Amino acid sequence: APSNIALVKYWGKHGQQLPQNPSISFTLSQCVTTTAVSFSPRQTGETAFDFLFEQKKQPAFHPKIQQFLERITPYFPALEGHRLSISSQNSFPHSSGIASSASAMAALALCIVDFEKQFHPLWTEEAALQKASFLARLGSGSAARSIAGPLMVWGQSKAFPQSNDHYAIAPAVEWHPIFHDYQDTVLIVDKGQKKVSSTLGHGLMQGHPFAAQRFEQAHSHLEEIKAALTTGDLERFIDLTEAEALTLHAMMMTSNPRFVLMQPNTLALLQKVWDFRAQTDLPLCFTLDAGANVHLLYPRQDRNPIMDFIQKELLVHCQQGQYIEDQVGNGAKKN
Ligand code: DP6
Repeated sequence: APSNIALVKYWGKHGQQLPQNPSISFTLSQCVTTTAVSFSPRQTGETAFDFLFEQKKQPAFHPKIQQFLERITPYFPALEGHRLSISSQNSFPHSSGIASSASAMAALALCIVDFEKQFHPLWTEEAALQKASFLARLGSGSAARSIAGPLMVWGQSKAFPQSNDHYAIAPAVEWHPIFHDYQDTVLIVDKGQKKVSSTLGHGLMQGHPFAAQRFEQAHSHLEEIKAALTTGDLERFIDLTEAEALTLHAMMMTSNPRFVLMQPNTLALLQKVWDFRAQTDLPLCFTLDAGANVHLLYPRQDRNPIMDFIQKELLVHCQQGQYIEDQVGNGAKKN
């Protein structure tokens, strides 16, 4: 399963992993988690799972997997009688500062649903993917959007008739062809562990003075970006994407407690992107997750001059000059 990058951000949740507002993301293609699970009957006294990450034991991941299995078992009771041997690896460096919970939880959910299918011979492929997105959400909200491509919407929105809070959908919309292979070059400003865990981060929206306005804004941004994504209006796309990225950080800066997750190099990069766009008129823009790294988004047709600019001007702001090249893709696949 691939990672994804949100354009309209999910920030704020309630109940059992339900979003406070709808979000939309590009599904990526190069940053992926590959997971294999074998299921065996569980003997009394045996643990529910064992886990290898890149061929090594990784107890640090156990609580998250344990919690995930506990949350999903009511939705797949036969799981209780099984022991899972899970083995996972990432195509991207684990400590690159790139969120891996989305691809990891989506891959694990897909393996589990693949196993569950034998109990439901009449399930369509669509039903199985919905179930996978539903389970992935219980592991990590954004993971619900790492199932299909090229874009997925999670959370009820007037703009997308089938959308709902329980699982993400790949809307039956004709996206403008320019977005089918849109580029995402991730500039690694900070490889370190996240300073704010996602659970703490989402919690900051509870009682946040601007929460209601923010959730409303996400609804209207989603409607507007849908129009830009179907017509290919890059100016509108850029305006909304950057507004979302900075709003996410503005929410963190104005919460209690408050956080500044951008670093001096992040700000230097944003300014250089704006200057470059003004000088060249090329449609290069950025988005940010809850961290210091910068995702650069641009059409494939503009790759050469933009990569040249990245190499010459931007990599000096990256930790050890590190970056990851990715692009929009079509979702998870079974090997
Ligand atoms: C800033 O999906 O990591 O990346 O549901 O607690 O696992 P949990 O949160 P998570 O939050 C991602 C937030 C974001 C924006 C987004 O991807 O929409």
